[in-house]
Amino acid sequence: MLICTFFSSFLLLFKNTLSNQCYHCGDDEDSKQGAVYDPMLCRKIKSCADDEVCRVTTLNTAGVFTYESGCNQKLQCQILTIATLQSENIDTGVDVASILASAGKRDNPTRKRQQSICDICCGDGLCNDSDCESVKIRIMQFANATRFNYTTLKLIR
Ligand SMILES: *[C@@H]1O[C@H](CO)[C@@H](O)[C@H](O)[C@H]1NC(C)=O
Ligand SMILES: *[C@@H]1O[C@H](CO)[C@@H](O)[C@H](O)[C@H]1NC(C)=O
Ligand SMILES: *[C@@H]1O[C@H](CO)[C@@H](O)[C@H](O)[C@H]1NC(C)=O
Repeated sequence: MLICTFFSSFLLLFKNTLSNQCYHCGDDEDSKQGAVYDPMLCRKIKSCADDEVCRVTTLNTAGVFTYESGCNQKLQCQILTIATLQSENIDTGVDVASILASAGKRDNPTRKRQQSICDICCGDGLCNDSDCESVKIRIMQFANATRFNYTTLKLIR
């Protein structure tokens, strides 16, 4: 029994170390992102699934700004992030069709949120700032210096 408990807590520790963690807003632990009016509220740590990365979003709904941060499916995030960077005139050199093909998909599963004014993802601590604009500028700087990996969405060290 003791050995069993020891072993399962070891596995748990191991899993937690491997899994992604993202900033999350609001009280609802189960919600994907959780919108709030103050980005400073997006400071809760949430563990994501293996196929998820972090996503930060700013929405403008008729002049009211809300902020979201949390875990999001990786393929969706890759496409979304490339689209966001391309809309900032960054030459990502990455073809969305080839990303879809390598994931065995033909249709683009990602639709830009209508009211989003900033929407971007990261596979590491780059999203470690609840303000989407700051995250975007940080990623743009690394992308411009070819130090952003569009597959892993991580900084190339
Ligand atoms: C965010 O950055 C801080 C300071 O670098 C670090 O202590 C914290 O673990 C990071 N959080 C996540 C979720 O990466
Ligand atoms: C990155 O490069 C693009 C395209 O040249 C430019 O518009 C943008 O200002 C640059 N951004 C940063 C943060 O360096
Ligand atoms: C990005 O990461 C993938 C997976 O780790 C790796 O195969 C690829 O070479 C990396 N690309 C760059 C430009 O570093």
